[in-house]
Amino acid sequence: MKNFISVHDVSNINNLVKKALAYKANPFKDRNLGADKRIGLLFLNPSLRTRLSTQVAAKNLGMEAIIFNVDKEGWALEFEEGAIMSGHTVEHVKDAAPILGQYFDILCIRTFPGLKNREDDYSEMFIHQFIKYAGVPVISLESATLHPLQSLTDIITIQETWNQPRRPRIVLTWAPHIKPLPQCVSNSFAQWVNAWGEADFVITHPVDYELAEQFTKGAQITHNQDEALKDADYVYVKNWSTYTDYGKVYENDPNWMLTEEKMQLTNQAKVMHCLPVRRNVELSDEILDGPHSLVTREAGNRVWAAQAVIASILEQSK
Ligand code: CP
Repeated sequence: MKNFISVHDVSNINNLVKKALAYKANPFKDRNLGADKRIGLLFLNPSLRTRLSTQVAAKNLGMEAIIFNVDKEGWALEFEEGAIMSGHTVEHVKDAAPILGQYFDILCIRTFPGLKNREDDYSEMFIHQFIKYAGVPVISLESATLHPLQSLTDIITIQETWNQPRRPRIVLTWAPHIKPLPQCVSNSFAQWVNAWGEADFVITHPVDYELAEQFTKGAQITHNQDEALKDADYVYVKNWSTYTDYGKVYENDPNWMLTEEKMQLTNQAKVMHCLPVRRNVELSDEILDGPHSLVTREAGNRVWAAQAVIASILEQSK
């Protein structure tokens, strides 16, 4: 693995899941793989799980992890080629990234979308500019359109909790939220479940909340949440803002929040969410604190996903 930006960087999802679960069983089995190597974690946006799980994963492999909160402590970065930097940006990525490439063996970046201009966000310019200029492998810690470490974690969590001979029915459901959120987690989850190909996959959301077809193609899509939930084995709950009329909140109907009553439609489904979650807006207390919830286990698995990805990159660059 050279970079880790999307599912397209993974040659075999099941093998990567196996690698992650082997680290879960024995976290320190490759404690020297990253000895004398350094990983840089650059945050242009906030994080709890991604930041700490990637740090722990790197440490388990013997790497030193250094965190840089670029948004709070760094110079404002410019990403546009040929920009006349007379505005608020102070340092161009083509100057900063090669320097970071000298300091670190692997560079990890979190950079959220602006949700103002769809073409800009979906070009993924920020992360592509880092790849272009850093000269070392780049791992996405969530970019403008995708969150691959989260999605790998989600597939790991589904695989380790599914023990029946048939394919699971997985439902991705939109949930209400008070502000416009990126489509990254949902795009990425759809992309990974489709690429994995070992589940019946349904996406349900209100009218006008269609995600980009490049990620959802292959899934069944319905505006009827009850119909989608019927016989579900896994329900993945997530809010996203509109994609077509970009970055808007059209709908905040609390009836889209998952409740115990709705769970009666499912096949005693497990409930997943990437966190952070707004309790009793996106997902009810009764679900989050009840026996169906996988959210804590899911967040715990972030370490093993990150460890499998970092190890794969280290092995490739040996
Ligand atoms: N799920 C997730 O990426 O969490 P953080 O934003 O806290 O890293």
